[in-house]
Amino acid sequence: MYPLIRPRRLRSNEAIRSLVRETIISPSDFLVPLFVVEGKGIKEEIPSMPNYYRLSLDNLTKEVKELWKMGLRSVLLFVKVPDNLKDNKGSEALNENGLMQLAIKTVKNACPEMLVMTDVALDPYSSYGHDGIVADGQILNDESVELLTEMSVSHANAGADFVAPSDMMDGRILSIREALEDEGYLNTGIMAYSAKYASAFYGPFRDALDSAPVDIKNVPKDKKSYQMDYANRFEAIRETQMDIDEGADIVMVKPGLCYLDIVREIKNEVDVPVAVYQVSGEYAMVKAAAEKGWLDHDAVMMEQLTAIKRAGANIIASYFAKDAVKLLG
Ligand code: PBG
Repeated sequence: MYPLIRPRRLRSNEAIRSLVRETIISPSDFLVPLFVVEGKGIKEEIPSMPNYYRLSLDNLTKEVKELWKMGLRSVLLFVKVPDNLKDNKGSEALNENGLMQLAIKTVKNACPEMLVMTDVALDPYSSYGHDGIVADGQILNDESVELLTEMSVSHANAGADFVAPSDMMDGRILSIREALEDEGYLNTGIMAYSAKYASAFYGPFRDALDSAPVDIKNVPKDKKSYQMDYANRFEAIRETQMDIDEGADIVMVKPGLCYLDIVREIKNEVDVPVAVYQVSGEYAMVKAAAEKGWLDHDAVMMEQLTAIKRAGANIIASYFAKDAVKLLG
């Protein structure tokens, strides 16, 4: 008899579809990136990231309380540093009363159970807009790792639950893990940006933090000497395995949508949680197309988030977190 099997039976109405659905997005999937600025009463929209804001500490308090009420339990902090505090070594990053350190304390005061992760890289503090120290047209590895390690300890000291090194220097996870252990921060975790590609999708983020590499002689114009070549696949596995061996608790693939093959491959390969960062450019594209009326914002957003989770993400860092949770109702 023909046909014996009719796969459409399992798609015939929403009840059966929801019964057999394999991937479901929920608030606990999300890590919410937040941009913090100096000052008071500031909530400035980032031009290339519609409906996303830079917040001063008072507004950060309000924001994390709102996130908590929505069921969002984890944040990833970034700071925008004024130019006069930037130098090649990112010295301001180690200021115990610096903006990041204050932001960590602000979130913990407002919402003690909120999980706080912090970005560890020099770029927002660097006068050259690089994640490490620049010398003779190069990004120094080991000298940068020393600073990133001190930065991580400083974040742990301010109360961060996890540090998230996004710099792609070699050996930084081991160095950070050892320093955290030495300083007694046994429970401070590391979420390593393990497979982070040199991507044009970071553009709006660099606008948000004013952190793009500067156009000066003898300063590399891009981050290709440390972030990965997007043509490569095996290298992502190797980088990820190295970070796990060095003590990473969570590994990350970044950006998201263009790299879901990498996400699945890593998910099949490792047994630690895998995070995916749906980055600023991915957000901007959806917002822009939706503004023009060319795409259905909510539908495209949910399709993309579901695809990221289906590919193997245990954690999704996304600027859509609030939009998605509101939609889930
Ligand atoms: C800093 C950092 C970047 C992002 C996260 N951490 C930018 C970069 O590496 O240039 C990008 C995030 C985004 O685009 O949303 N090292």
